[in-house]
Amino acid sequence: MNKKIVVTGGAGFIGSHVIRRFVSGYPEYQIINLDKLTYAGNLANLKDIENQPNYRFVKGDITDVEFIDSFFNKEKPDNIIHLAAESHVDRSISNPTEFVMTNVLGTVNLLNAAKKYWVGNYNENRFYHVSTDEVYGALGEEGLFTEETRYDPHSPYSASKASSDHFVRAYHDTYGINAVISNCSNNYGSHHFPEKLIPLAINNLLNNKSVPVYGKGENIRDWLWVEDHARAIDVIFHKGKSGETFNIGGHNEWKNIDLIILLCKIMDGKLKRVAGSSEKLISFVKDRAGHDIRYAIDSSKLQKELDWVPSLQFEEGLEKTVDWYLANTAWLDDVTSGGYLKYYQDQYVKR
Ligand code: NAD
Ligand code: TYD
Repeated sequence: MNKKIVVTGGAGFIGSHVIRRFVSGYPEYQIINLDKLTYAGNLANLKDIENQPNYRFVKGDITDVEFIDSFFNKEKPDNIIHLAAESHVDRSISNPTEFVMTNVLGTVNLLNAAKKYWVGNYNENRFYHVSTDEVYGALGEEGLFTEETRYDPHSPYSASKASSDHFVRAYHDTYGINAVISNCSNNYGSHHFPEKLIPLAINNLLNNKSVPVYGKGENIRDWLWVEDHARAIDVIFHKGKSGETFNIGGHNEWKNIDLIILLCKIMDGKLKRVAGSSEKLISFVKDRAGHDIRYAIDSSKLQKELDWVPSLQFEEGLEKTVDWYLANTAWLDDVTSGGYLKYYQDQYVKR
C-alpha cells in the first residue's frame, strides 16, 4: 500500500539509517525527511539515496508551531516516524532547556498536528515515537529493563525523552491517536556524530589524541548496531499494535573501559600500529554528573511478538564501524571542522 511517511530527524545518525532502509526497501512509499539541520543533522549522511524518486528533504523546526501546521496542511502525511531530538546527555547537562523545547514541545507540536489533520482517520494514520532506554534510569548489577519497568530518568536528556513518551501515550489514551513507542539501547555504527563515545574514541585514536573515559570506565551500556535498530523500527512500524511499547536491545553489555580497550586493539590492527600503542591514549577524566551506572534491555517481547533478533555480533559490528570511519575520513573531517554546517545549512535545501 502507498504511504506518505514523514521521518523527523532523518539527517541525524539513526534517522539517516531509517530513511535509507525505507527509501530502498519500500519504493511504493513517499518518504519526507523533516529536519532542522542542527549541528547533529548532516545531509551528507544520505548522499547515496538523495536522488531517489520516493525521497524528499524539507528543512523545518518541530518547535515552530506555524511551520508544523502549514507543513501538515500542505503535505498531508499519513504517518510519522519521529526521531528528531536533542540526543546528547552531556549537552543536556549544560543546556537542559533546549532539550525541553525540542524533545518535549517539539513532540507535542507534532502530536497536535496529527490530532488536527488526521481526525476521522486515527486508526489508519500512525505516530511512531522513537525513544530511549535511558527513561528507565539506572540498573544495579542484576536485572534488565522491561516494558513494565517504572520510568526513573536522571539526566535532563532522559527526563525530556520520558516526558515525550508520556505525551505520546496520553494522546493515544485521550484522543485515540494510533501510536507506538520503542525504547532502544545505545546504538553504534556509521554516520554517528563524534561527540558520542564510540565515534569520538575512533576519531581521537586516529588523530593520536587522548580518549576521555569518564570516572573509572565502569559504567555499562548495552550496544546495538544501528541497522538492527532501523530493522526493528521497520517491523514495529508495520506490525506493532497501537498503544504498545517495545524495548529494543542487543543483549550486549559492555563496561566502557572494556569496550575502549577492544576498540584500541582493533585500531592498532587497522592502522598497523605497535600493539598496545592506542591503549596508551586512554585518559580517565572527571565523571559525568548523575552518570547512570548500567543500562541493559530485555527485548524478549519484540523477539516473541514480532520475530526480531539482532543480526550482528558486537565484535564484527565494531570492526565494520571502524572500517567505515577509516574509509570516510573526509566525512569525519567535515563534521569535526564544522564545514558541513556552512555548506548544507545555507545552500543545500532540496525541496
Ligand atoms: P542525532 O542527534 O544524531 O540526530 C537528531 C536529528 O534531529 C538531527 O538530524 C537534528 O538536525 C534533528 N533535529 C534536532 N532538533 C530538531 C528540531 N527542532 N526540528 C527538526 N529536527 C531537529 O540523534 P540520534 O542519535 O540519531 O537519535 C535519534 C532518536 O533516537 C532520538 O529521538 C534519540 O532520543 C533516540 N535514540 C537514540 C539512541 C542512540 O544511541 N543514539 C538510542 C535510543 C534512542
Ligand atoms: P554516550 O555515547 O554519550 O551515550 P549515553 O550517555 O547516551 O549512554 O556515552 C556512552 C558511555 O560512555 C556513557 O557511560 C558515558 C561514557 N563516555 C565516556 O566515558 N567518555 C566520553 O567522552 C563520552 C562521550 C562518553
